[in-house]
Order: sequence, then C-alpha cells, then structure tokens
Amino acid sequence: MTQNPVLGATYASLRAEVDVRDCPVDGRIPENLSGGFYAVGPDPQYPLAPGNIPFDGEGHVRVFRIRNGRVDYRSRYVRTERYLAQDRVRRSLMPMYRNPSLDDPSVQGLSRSTANTHVIQHQNLILALKEDSPPTALDLNTLETVEPVYTFGGQLPRDQPFTAHPKVCSRTGNIVAFGYEARGFGSDSIAVFEIDKQGRKVWGAEVRMPYVSSVHDFAVTENHIAFFLIPLAIDPEQMRRGGIHWSWDKDKKTFLGFMRRYGDGTDLQWIEGPARGGSHTLGAFEDGGKLYFDREVTAANPYSVIPNKDGAPYDAAAGTSYLHRLTVNLNGRNSGYGIEKLYPLIAPLPRQDDRYNTVPYRYGFMGCPDPADPVRWKAACYARVDHQTRSYQLWKAPATQSLGEPVFAPKRVDAREGEGYLLGVTWHLDQSLRADLLILDAEHLEDGPIATVQLPVQASPQIHGWWVREDQYPP
Ligand SMILES: [Fe+2]
Repeated sequence: MTQNPVLGATYASLRAEVDVRDCPVDGRIPENLSGGFYAVGPDPQYPLAPGNIPFDGEGHVRVFRIRNGRVDYRSRYVRTERYLAQDRVRRSLMPMYRNPSLDDPSVQGLSRSTANTHVIQHQNLILALKEDSPPTALDLNTLETVEPVYTFGGQLPRDQPFTAHPKVCSRTGNIVAFGYEARGFGSDSIAVFEIDKQGRKVWGAEVRMPYVSSVHDFAVTENHIAFFLIPLAIDPEQMRRGGIHWSWDKDKKTFLGFMRRYGDGTDLQWIEGPARGGSHTLGAFEDGGKLYFDREVTAANPYSVIPNKDGAPYDAAAGTSYLHRLTVNLNGRNSGYGIEKLYPLIAPLPRQDDRYNTVPYRYGFMGCPDPADPVRWKAACYARVDHQTRSYQLWKAPATQSLGEPVFAPKRVDAREGEGYLLGVTWHLDQSLRADLLILDAEHLEDGPIATVQLPVQASPQIHGWWVREDQYPP
C-alpha cells in the first residue's frame, strides 16, 4: 500500500489488471438494477518520482457489470500514448505532474494524458478523461483501449484539452464540455463546446479567463454555462524548479463567470467574490432569472499535495469543503454573487442523479466523514441531502472501512428523481484494502447495504465513477 484512501477517493496503487466472473454477493442484487458501474483512478505504472504527486498515476478503469442478479468485475489500464511509450522502455518518461520540461525527449509530441480522473459513456465507448488532454476511448464492454487520443473523428484538435467533468444535457443528451489552456500550455483560453448523441460537434466558443487557473469542473444549465475560478494558479517559477503545474496563490482573486450556451462567448461576465477554493459541482440550474450553482467550496487550498505559493503549510481546516449554493442574476448587473453554505457535511466529491445535470434538482449524494465524529482523511458515511427540506440522511460504515465516491442508478429509465440505488466501493482498512461494492436503496440509505458484492482483491484506485444503464448499451 503506497497511499491511504482519502475522503472519497483512493490513491492506493494496485498494478494488477483483474477479471472476476460471478462475484460472490451477500444479500440480493435488485431485479431492476442492470447496467455498469465504471470508475477510474491513478495507478502509477512506475513509481512516482520524488516530488511528484498521487494525481499523476496512469489511469486504471474498472467496471462492475451487473445483469440478471450477477456481477462480473473487470479492470484495465488505459493504454494512453504515455502508457504505451513507457511500457516499451519499462520506465517512466514523464516524471512530473503537468510539467513537460522534464519529459524524456523520446515522448515529444505524444499526448501526456494519464486518463485517470473520470469516465463517461459515449455511444459504445467509455471516454477516460484527464483535463489537460483529449479523452482516451475504451470499448464499453471489454475496457480495451481503442483510440488513445479521441477527437470525435477529427472534430476537436489533437491537442484540445477536455474537462474531466463534462455534463450531459438533461433535455438533449448532448455532452457539454470545455477545455482550459486551450491555446497551448499555459494559455488563458477556454474552449467550450457541445457534442450531440451522434458524436457531432454542434457548438463551440472560445473565452478567456482572468488568470490561468485550474478549472476542474463547471456548471451547465438549460441556457447558460458557469465557471468558478479559484486561486489554484499556474506557477511557472515552480515548474522551472522542476515542480508541478500548480500552486495556491492566495493573492489571486476568486471569480464566478457565466455566459450563454450557443452564443459566441462575448457575453461572458466574470464576477469577483470572496477568496475561496473547491473543485466539484453537485448540480446547477436556472430559475426565475437566476442561475444557481451548487458546489463544494473551501476557505483556501483544498489539496494537501499542492503547495502554497507563499510556502505556508497546508491548512486542513481551511481546505475542508462544504456544499454551497452560488447565485447570480442572469438579467441585470451583478456587483457580486450570492454564496450560502448548505449543509454541515464535509463533501469533496458530491454527486447527483445524473439525469438532472442541467435542470432543477432536489437530491445530492456523497461519501463524507460522520459529522458527529469527523475523521478527515476517511469517508465513513454515505449521505443523501435533500434541498427541499434542507435535511440529510446518513448511513455510517463500520470503522474499518473507507468509502469511495458513489454513483446513482435509477430503478427505471423513467424513475422519479432519486428513486434508485446508490453504488459505491468500500475499502477494508483491516484487510489490505480488499474491496466490496455496496448497493444501497438511495431513498433509504440509513438501512445500509441491501447487497454487498465481494472482490477477492483490492479494487483499482478511484477518483470518479459513472453509471451506464442497461438501455444505454448499444445492441
Ligand atoms: Fe474531479
């Protein structure tokens, strides 16, 4: 074990590609649960160089394929151009996180993607995503890599960054995405674009940001797109010293930006707000002339592995994230934006019923520490928050288990919001991180798992995951 599980994500190296047919199940797989739970995380192909950070491991994708009450498990490394080049010479060739100046000359011109952050389905593919690079396409069923640099048939440039957190439009099914540093390494350009279900690029615009920030996630509503720009900024001096791409620069400002979908981007407004951090969107929508952007927000640097530019030590309390609602007026002037803390739960990796990515929604799901007994490095509970009642329900795992980011699976295509199952992996801290898949009734989390799918080994590392319904598999 090289790394411990931390709040909802696991950076524990595995290295092995695993197939398990007919996993043992404790309990019963619900009859109306059929599909695939995919996830990805960094699993270093070769040991990380001194000074490198756990975010830089090669992407390792896994799926729990659930059909007819049975569960098959499979995991595969993503064969990125970086992975394949390193595999040929059996050593690391890109030794520092998003710092190409230290790369071996032999990899010049290759994609630096690790494809380790998130996965989504597109047609018969799984797209493995890393925000500094294009997607890598895997076969939906076998997880074999079919296209290391996926450009939607040449519609996106080969060096077009693609966010790890695209949204699926709740009305059209289009993938709405963006890429920052879009005009090359260190550029202040953001490309925003939309891909329809047939894979055609149907819209694109280019905008600029006030400074080069890590724009990890964004918000999409029916008619608008919003960004939250935080002081996690590019640090050229640090890179010249052989360090990583980012540092936390507390002297930089925080901005909320919003613009129209399908416009040319010239309407983009950046609104300055109080200094904050945080990475992930829970949900977003517009209603009554206002845009609501629900996300995790920290008071300062959210990442212990990313240096503070002023050399100050990481402040765990200031880096702890809670769900907030940001609000802007879509019509008229904004002298600032509203910011309201929603719940007392520590929530770095919140998720929603993904059918509601771009429209009003009620529920959120997350792994979090027990609010009565927080252990910062471990997600010990699964929670559902209810915006209508501003309440939450919890299931608390045994103390020896840590929980990964969950996904929501609806009971039927037309199930009402939140009517379905919550699926998440638990790592047993007292069993060398041997893992189980937990299945809970999303409307009754407090009852605990209705089924536990047992793996004989550690699950591959995970940051984010995605649920593919049975009806979304091509025939
Ligand atoms: Fe993320």
